[in-house]
Amino acid sequence: MANDSLPPNQRRFFLTIVLGGISAVLSVAAGWPVFRFLSPASGGGEVKPVEMPRAKIDVGGAQFFTYHGSPAVVLQKSAGEFVAFSAVCTHLGCIVKWIPDKEEFLCPCHAGRFSTDGAVLGGPPPKPLKSIPVVLAGDLLRIG
Ligand code: FES
Repeated sequence: MANDSLPPNQRRFFLTIVLGGISAVLSVAAGWPVFRFLSPASGGGEVKPVEMPRAKIDVGGAQFFTYHGSPAVVLQKSAGEFVAFSAVCTHLGCIVKWIPDKEEFLCPCHAGRFSTDGAVLGGPPPKPLKSIPVVLAGDLLRIG
């Protein structure tokens, strides 16, 4: 009968290597999402405007879109007058909704209210919605 067991010092070395490898893999797996969250977005910092047909937005209507990875909204206040804002509430970051009947933005989380200029009308938000420049180029809106 062959003795196939390893001496205790080799067994300990083998277990150390295996457990160390497993620990390293688990550490990388746990740390990767944190690294991705903290690392800057790719794209080299050049900010491209978002283009949208102006016909997509009715007078008094709003259109939500994604602006550099964040929710944003463009509003046609009156015929040909467009404004755009970040749709992220300045209180705790919920996404505002457009309420056409009241002509204001409402944050569903704590009832923060914003005017068509992005100013705070009521509720806990400490600052206005962040404005995004809009340029009208023919039938196209360039936002950003
Ligand atoms: S997150 Fe908008 S009012 Fe609190």
